[in-house]
Amino acid sequence: MLAHPVTADPVFEFAADVRAGLTQPDQKELPSKYLYDSVGSALFEAISVLPEYGLTRADERLLRRHSDDIVERLPVPLVVAELGSGSGKKTRWILEALSRRQATSYCPIEISPAALAMCRRELGDIDSISIVGFEREYLDGLLEVAAQRQDGEHLLVLFLGSTIGNFDRPADVRFLQEVRRILRAGDALLLGTDLVKSIPQLLDAYDDPLGITAAFNLNLLARINRELDADFDLRQFQHVARFNHSSGSMEMHLRSKRKQMVVIPQAELSVTFREGETIWTESSHKYSPGELTQIGEQAGFRREAQWIDQEWPFAENLLIAD
Ligand code: AVJ
Repeated sequence: MLAHPVTADPVFEFAADVRAGLTQPDQKELPSKYLYDSVGSALFEAISVLPEYGLTRADERLLRRHSDDIVERLPVPLVVAELGSGSGKKTRWILEALSRRQATSYCPIEISPAALAMCRRELGDIDSISIVGFEREYLDGLLEVAAQRQDGEHLLVLFLGSTIGNFDRPADVRFLQEVRRILRAGDALLLGTDLVKSIPQLLDAYDDPLGITAAFNLNLLARINRELDADFDLRQFQHVARFNHSSGSMEMHLRSKRKQMVVIPQAELSVTFREGETIWTESSHKYSPGELTQIGEQAGFRREAQWIDQEWPFAENLLIAD
């Protein structure tokens, strides 16, 4: 598997994003994509097996149960690109169903080299599937995959695990519009989305009693310490999960337990925190089944099919580019 080098300096970009987020006048924030360094990716793998967090298992169940039905609705021949493959575990079912049809290239697109490596270990054994990894941001990677495909080859874009939920509305629609622009008519997008469910259930899922999600969130500050030489005292921050009713999303924050100052030399920044002030680190939107048809249509897709898990409300949406 080829791992393409990243062109821009990642530490410089991280420093610039940390600086921009922590100098916001009202709500301080940090981009959720930075949760996934090697520690964060390992912690997310642990979250995904917690009894309170049913999202990943629901996604996997749907893909396992319906992979033949999904693959039957896809054009031939096909190249598969996955945005944010993670460990790649849940992708196995689709790839196995595809490999029974014909040899297929699978292109995971990931900013985390650790996740790309996990994905290669997990899926490297499937016959007739060749893996070509791209260490890239989603759209940059997708552009490259699209540019390399042969005439007449269709693209299947996998965007699983409800990663789309990390975008605010309407940034989710704008993102899918960008994806659509890279695609040709008839190309497919398989979009996994977490659905609306009870708030106590969500609060347990995002603030689990073992504290794994808290560690996952706090690791973002640890990462800033490691990579930007900062002096965050992790014990002086607390993980907070809350449901935002107006946006319909779970939010993760890090709350400062007291008034304090933090120095981040590599971002040329010192920040002060009030007692109780928070850094907003992630939003995770919860969708209604019908909303996905709408969002798809706004982005230039028609909804070909939808599969819903009853145990943990979650939807797999197959969208076809118009
Ligand atoms: C991987 C983005 C789908 O939003 O539920 C898990 C990340 N955050 N627990 C999500 C996450 C807190 C997860 N996604």
